[in-house]
Amino acid sequence: MSVAHGIKRLGVLGAGQMGLGIAFVSAVHARVPVLINDHSPDQIKRGFALFDKLLAKDVAKGKMTQTEAKEARDRVQAVESIAKMRDVDMCVEAVSEHFPLKSSLFSSLSTHLRPDAILASNTSSISITKIAAAAVGEGVDAKSSVASKSAERAVGIHFFNPVPVMKLVELISGLQTSPNVLDRARAFAIACGKEVTTSKDVPGFVSNALLMPFINEAIMCLEKGIASRDDIDKTLKLGMNHPMGPLTLADFIGLDTCLAIQRTLYEGTSDSKYRPSILLERMVDAGWHGKKSGRGFYEYPTS
Ligand code: 3HC
Repeated sequence: MSVAHGIKRLGVLGAGQMGLGIAFVSAVHARVPVLINDHSPDQIKRGFALFDKLLAKDVAKGKMTQTEAKEARDRVQAVESIAKMRDVDMCVEAVSEHFPLKSSLFSSLSTHLRPDAILASNTSSISITKIAAAAVGEGVDAKSSVASKSAERAVGIHFFNPVPVMKLVELISGLQTSPNVLDRARAFAIACGKEVTTSKDVPGFVSNALLMPFINEAIMCLEKGIASRDDIDKTLKLGMNHPMGPLTLADFIGLDTCLAIQRTLYEGTSDSKYRPSILLERMVDAGWHGKKSGRGFYEYPTS
């Protein structure tokens, strides 16, 4: 028997490419009101500009009417703090892949949200059990019912970039996640128009435990001079029918994000096959974070 998601109002933390995409599919496909928060007012402004652009594109393509686009836009509202999310039924954290940031947000969510609200993370690689432990909050006895309730309602809901296009959501069940919370998260992802897979809570889950060594190996090929940037990408694009070569894909995901995920894989497994390439480390040191920063393996002129 399928479970209803019961999400009448959603919270999203982070208005970057992932948070904005999650807000978009929630408002357009699941038709759920969304409250979105980001510490940067500029990021919120950029996020809404992109949201409007995506809606206008869908209207132009005949995928939705002008009225439907306006209704979807009206469903999304920016709020200045987590405290304003008190009435949401689920909040998806979609901030950068940095454990201290995610854990402090989860702790804040567990304080401000209703005790039955789902605490979801769009983490790409960090343990949902570990993030859930942070939701317990300081000063709460880990054996208390407050602590176990917080851990039971935490779940990983991993969307893929670009969220409006990619068909998958990977769900991650932490050690203490309740089956009902997992079922409701699954029902919500389906309402957003996605297909769902489930992974155990291991570093990188299924998706990034497979994708990141592939990207890293491509970077090492470049580092060792085995082939040029263009030939590495062309080999995978034309030889294996990948929509993007691995170096283009790394730029698209963000080199800082790729490095953060690779470090989580390496540190979480101590397996040398996950060691990030030195070239990737240096590029991130240089501020070459891929498409979003204007330079990665390729250059992206802003205009
Ligand atoms: N946002 C919304 N829609 C977008 C978009 C974006 N950023 N980029 C492209 N699209 C839409 C276009 O509007 C178009 O829609 P249509 O079919 O309705 O006309 C459709 O996608 C195809 O776009 P284009 O024709 O412009 O370009 P391509 O055919 O080259 O497709 C792509 C672009 C979909 C990005 C394709 O290159 C692709 O699938 N690349 C691989 C992406 C991928 O692997 N993503 C996963 C990254 S890993 C991840 O996210 C996990 C994390 O944990 C790291």
